[in-house]
Amino acid sequence: MGDDQALRIPRHVALIMDGNGRWAKKRLMPRSAGHSAGMNRMIALAEHAKALGINYMTVYALSTENLARPKDELDGLYSLIKKYFLKNADKLIKDGAALRVIGDLTLLPDDVRAVVEEGVARSYKDAEFTFCIALAYGARREIVNACKAAAAKDEEVTEETLGSLMYTGDMPDPDLIIRTGGEVRLSNFLLWQAAYAELYFTDTLFPDFTDECLDSAVAEYSRRTRRFGKV
Ligand code: FPP
Repeated sequence: MGDDQALRIPRHVALIMDGNGRWAKKRLMPRSAGHSAGMNRMIALAEHAKALGINYMTVYALSTENLARPKDELDGLYSLIKKYFLKNADKLIKDGAALRVIGDLTLLPDDVRAVVEEGVARSYKDAEFTFCIALAYGARREIVNACKAAAAKDEEVTEETLGSLMYTGDMPDPDLIIRTGGEVRLSNFLLWQAAYAELYFTDTLFPDFTDECLDSAVAEYSRRTRRFGKV
């Protein structure tokens, strides 16, 4: 990773996990096999992020737009959650991570939502490392909800008050946002929070995004100079 002494570890890394479908297609496997491989990679990356000293990792697991995918693909994602969410949650929690979920869980089927809520309920509320899963998440929806909440409270709208009403209100903004799978866009992910994030795009399909790939993204982040609009 080059000069380790100078390596700056981002406090919060967010990850757009794209390319599961293409990964599976290349192997003549169903898309669900790509999501399954992606889920295993996601858990391994969380453990690696924790070991690197990253404090927060937020992953885009299901967008509000993804909810319009064909029923059989969605059913596959839901059954992945129902089968493995609690097992993976327990593993992360046992290793000392706090688990949280952002998004509009009311958009999910009841049985899926129940499993997700159960996992979060088992988790620590606070830990050195927080693993945050975005499920049924859409940034514009999040911003609209925050505005509605501010109006309902009759609160003055400032960057601080609105920021605190986002799903991530008590988390630092992401320092580094990584997107795998070759597309160069944010796709309605953490739009408010991304204001000063460093963006890192790679063609690597998500199931192929190894721990070493995360090391390379962190090394690239570390080389960049963040000025937050100042000189
Ligand atoms: C995008 O790849 C990925 C998703 C829509 C799902 C991401 C989910 C995981 C990594 C597994 C964990 C899942 C849950 C729900 C906990 P794509 O299918 O759009 O890939 P493509 O662009 O190659 O078609």
